[in-house]
Amino acid sequence: MNITLVGTGYVGLVTGTCFANVGNDVTCLDVDISKIEQLSNGESPFYEPGLSEMMTKCIDDNRLHFTCSKKEAYEHADVIFICVGTPTGAKGECDLSHVFGVADDIAKSSASDRSPLIIVKSTVPVGTTHKVRERIPERMSIANNPEFLREGNAIEDFRRPDRVVCGVDTEGARTVLTKLYAPFVGEGRPLLFFDIPSSEMVKYASNAMLACKISFINEIASLCERNGANIDAVRTGMCADNRIGTAFFRPGIGYGGSCFPKDTLAVMEMGQDANAPCLVNTAVHELNLRQRAWFAQRVIDHFGGSLEGKRIAFWGLAFKPRTDDVRDAPSIDIAKALIERGAEVIGFDPEAAENFSIEVSQIELADDMYAVTSQADALVICTEWPEFGTCSLSKVKGLLNEPLIFDGRNMFDEDTMTKAGFTYYSVGRPTVTQSSNTTANQ
Ligand code: UDX
Repeated sequence: MNITLVGTGYVGLVTGTCFANVGNDVTCLDVDISKIEQLSNGESPFYEPGLSEMMTKCIDDNRLHFTCSKKEAYEHADVIFICVGTPTGAKGECDLSHVFGVADDIAKSSASDRSPLIIVKSTVPVGTTHKVRERIPERMSIANNPEFLREGNAIEDFRRPDRVVCGVDTEGARTVLTKLYAPFVGEGRPLLFFDIPSSEMVKYASNAMLACKISFINEIASLCERNGANIDAVRTGMCADNRIGTAFFRPGIGYGGSCFPKDTLAVMEMGQDANAPCLVNTAVHELNLRQRAWFAQRVIDHFGGSLEGKRIAFWGLAFKPRTDDVRDAPSIDIAKALIERGAEVIGFDPEAAENFSIEVSQIELADDMYAVTSQADALVICTEWPEFGTCSLSKVKGLLNEPLIFDGRNMFDEDTMTKAGFTYYSVGRPTVTQSSNTTANQ
């Protein structure tokens, strides 16, 4: 099938490449000429394991093309996916200008004898796909098809999805989507069809639920710190209930990224617009912001309220491992809070350091995880890159001015840190202190 993807971010580029990889002829459209040149050379503009290799293979097989020309992108398309960004506006609203701009372009640029299926894949508030319907010619049909890709795992998530969700209101759209996703569904990977508004809502409900799990476990972790419980034990005991499950209950400094923060705000806005305030989502959002402020304050309190003259090393700057994305990363707010109290911050991240320095210009960067700890007064861990968990603690101890770690992702256990001789703060667990050489409650 001739498929066009509009927008070459995580969603558009991964979707287009994976569809090309199973034999479709795919054209990716973007307005950014320099980006299109980079893509045409098989280079991904962001770090995503395996993507560049798959792009190169599909480009070499002449099944994956990149263009800035709307005419070229639309003239032969059987299917056009809208995958442009839906950023959060100044008032917390979901900015749909790019989505509607594409719909208008399609209406203007498509040949009158073509009747492609227009599929909205961008995450959009309920009712948006029907608004796109109003902006395109009658001869074209419309569908909604949200994505559930995790950055750093996007290709795997696309090729082996838990489910594919489609919103349709014509048999023709159902037939096209069934054919498109045939290589990826089956054996417990259902292809689900709903009405269009329900399909749009599934995306938000899913992300809101995942964000809620994170804020929930972080709230319980805060309670554990105050009443002497240990979140690891509580989590094990709680998650043994098969109605609760274990996934997505890792306590830490909370969620970041381009989706959970944006989508939680969008649900809150939908609630306001519908005069049905979404109290749970509002609490999830506020808790998430509080978690990063609380973690920064813990560092500040340890040093008596001022960080003047203190050098603080950061391990991990990306919002999660296996990505170079720092959008809304907790590390940004934490670094800024420490710098504001006078700290000198030096950071290391295997992939995200350059992007981070754009957000926090005062940070000094090191290109080695051990070098960054040299002569630092404390080490702060914000992203759980695997190499941090397997580091030489004795080497780190020798490099730091004092054996002091603030672990925002609970990468180590208390016994290990006691034996290694660290003062070790983590989330939802007793602090390991060296004075009594035993674990003490916060
Ligand atoms: C998320 C959704 O998982 C995906 O389905 C959707 O399409 C896009 O948004 P992503 O934002 O890439 O994907 O990353 P994810 O792995 O979900 O993690 C999001 C954030 O939650 C990260 O900052 C991560 O550190 C944090 N997190 C995740 C926790 O704090 N605890 C957890 O247990 C899991």
